[in-house]
Amino acid sequence: MSTKKIFLLGFMGCGKSTLGRHLSKALGWKFIDLDSYFEDKFKTTVPLFFKEFGEDGFRDAEQSALFDLKDLTNTVIATGGGVPCFFNNMDFMNQNGVTIYMKVSPAVLAQRLSNSKNVRPLVQGKIGNELIEYINDKLKSREPFYNRASIIADAELLDLNGYLRVLEDTGLK
Ligand code: S3P
Repeated sequence: MSTKKIFLLGFMGCGKSTLGRHLSKALGWKFIDLDSYFEDKFKTTVPLFFKEFGEDGFRDAEQSALFDLKDLTNTVIATGGGVPCFFNNMDFMNQNGVTIYMKVSPAVLAQRLSNSKNVRPLVQGKIGNELIEYINDKLKSREPFYNRASIIADAELLDLNGYLRVLEDTGLK
């Protein structure tokens, strides 16, 4: 593949980290989960950072973590769900790699987030209708950013081979 980085984008629970691990293995590339990189860089957890510095502080720090990855090659990066929606992050990712929006419906996201053990400050404590309404609203405001990805993938339909085919079809592999 001529490109050097693939950024996986999408709402919390869409499967970025899982796909990132499999895709990087299939391509023989490295894998970075931006939330894990963030936690190593700042020697804390995402929920604790949120608690201490609020969302604004988190977004600043998150961008600095993202920018650290600028010179990496042959790397698949699973971004946090909010990354594309702040500052010029979407421009940065489009200029430095191939961006894939993993599109998943609100109902499926709600189900996956309800079953997830990961602590996510934005949805912590939300269940049932409150969770679905939150996802619906947030997704509406986030999709204009996600939709700027070079590839929009139906993540409920595609398996690993599907993604490899999409990359091939778009001339990126
Ligand atoms: C967030 C998503 C999380 C994490 C943080 C904020 C968001 O990552 O970065 O809790 O704003 O959507 P995942 O998308 O990997 O859950």
